[in-house]
Amino acid sequence: MIDKIKNICCIGAGYVGGPTMAVIADKCPHIQVNVVDVNQSRINSWNSEDLKYLPIYEPELAPTVKRSRGRNLHFSTNVEEKIREADMIFISVNTPTKISGIGAGQASDLKWVESSARQIAKYAQGETIVVEKSTLPVKTAETIKKILSTVSNNNKEIKFNVLSNPEFLAEGTAINDLENPDRVLIGGENDESINYLKDIYLNWVEKEKILTTNLWSSELSKLIANAFLAQRISSINSISALCEVTGADIKEVSRAIGMDSRIGGKFLNSGPGFGGSCFKKDILNLVYICNYYGLKKVASYWQKVIDINDWQQERISSIIVKNLFGTISSKTIGILGFSFKADTNDTRESPAISICKDLIVEGANLQIFDPQVSEDQIAIDLESEPKKVSENDFDNFGWISCNDIYDAAKNADALVIITEWEEFKKIDWQKISNLMRPPSWVFDTRSIVNKKIVLKNGLNIWQIGN
Ligand code: NAD
Ligand code: UGA
Repeated sequence: MIDKIKNICCIGAGYVGGPTMAVIADKCPHIQVNVVDVNQSRINSWNSEDLKYLPIYEPELAPTVKRSRGRNLHFSTNVEEKIREADMIFISVNTPTKISGIGAGQASDLKWVESSARQIAKYAQGETIVVEKSTLPVKTAETIKKILSTVSNNNKEIKFNVLSNPEFLAEGTAINDLENPDRVLIGGENDESINYLKDIYLNWVEKEKILTTNLWSSELSKLIANAFLAQRISSINSISALCEVTGADIKEVSRAIGMDSRIGGKFLNSGPGFGGSCFKKDILNLVYICNYYGLKKVASYWQKVIDINDWQQERISSIIVKNLFGTISSKTIGILGFSFKADTNDTRESPAISICKDLIVEGANLQIFDPQVSEDQIAIDLESEPKKVSENDFDNFGWISCNDIYDAAKNADALVIITEWEEFKKIDWQKISNLMRPPSWVFDTRSIVNKKIVLKNGLNIWQIGN
């Protein structure tokens, strides 16, 4: 029997593993926390002396890491050694959508989860609690249990208990979400193991907020929470299009419906479509599971949430082309924001990617600025290298990255706001107006700028849902 959890290992030093373990280490100085990853350069960044080079940009992450790193928080590639030392192991690896084979385009690719389980089975010693932190299809714990028992050859000296403890943090507010969670969900079959994990959270989370369920409810609740959140965004985005043609204003509609306490006011901001690594993949996975169990109507209901989201992203680029006299060939367009939301450097599934690709295909030259996304990352996402194109060169088009908002607006025919970074809410529109080529347009896909001030400065403006 485990006496007390003294040593934790987390497999996966990504957007979830890194911040989650940094908070556990901060709140539990009596526990040694080892975060391991196969990606050496990511681990090097987590260990970098200068905290501005951490692999993830997230408010309050750097000071949190600083308080514990080297004391009871360690980042390394010593997977084998750290698994061996651990009483509790979190699996926090990526679970993207499968790109080939059975279920391609819908099912989650569990190869990284399976390889983690195999490593745990091979190296763990004595009694070990294995915690699913990754978002997983319902019933994955069954597979993990099977791998653990067969790979470890049913060795009597080694005992595993599997728990599900999905993560609900949102990027950009990860540290606050981890420190003040709405709830912590623990699914499991063994009360003793559940209590070991519960005791860790009790170091900073009130006991009323810690829910315990069976394994399958916990796994499924995570997928459903994301599906409901994404559904709200698709719902409000679908209505943004209706507002644009009827003269209603989406912000006023959101406010009016959100004041109904049954609906609630959060997550009702219309925008260029949801991005991020999880909403799309988790709903696709839900669609796959529903189809697998023969629930075709349920599957097609959830598929519609994704369809509306794709449509919203395509709609934005069409609106831009239409307003710029039907052609953007060799026109210059400033892009403000490339991350999928503010306060993160994450660009996975960012609406900026598809919108920029559409505009480039139409022949535009893009001047892209994001406060946290590097030029290298933009090049990976747009699948092309930056290229400066001279004016009136109709045969060439492409993109460059810029140092600030005003750089991106220089000689531009249009400025497109894609991410709701705080600094985009405080733009000097007079300065912008002097920099752009008239007739200049502003496309505000987040509805964050003051329309009257933009108009007063001689610019045209289109805002989502307005
Ligand atoms: P990520 O891609 O940022 O990080 C995963 C890390 O795991 C990578 O660095 C990868 O190298 C490492 N890895 C994979 N297999 C490994 C192995 N066998 N051994 C060691 N390292 C290995 O992913 P993420 O965004 O942190 O997401 C992780 C999981 O958490 C996913 O299931 C995701 O759905 C879920 N989730 C993500 C968020 C979020 O905001 N990003 C929030 C809640 C839940
Ligand atoms: C989301 C969930 O909010 C988390 O609870 C969950 O843990 C996480 O997914 C996950 O499983 O990965 P995240 O994707 O980081 O978190 O960020 P959100 O704040 O949910 O935003 C997702 C997307 O929706 C962004 O593109 C955002 O701009 C967009 N959004 C959000 C809107 O367009 N309108 C809104 O009102 C809210």
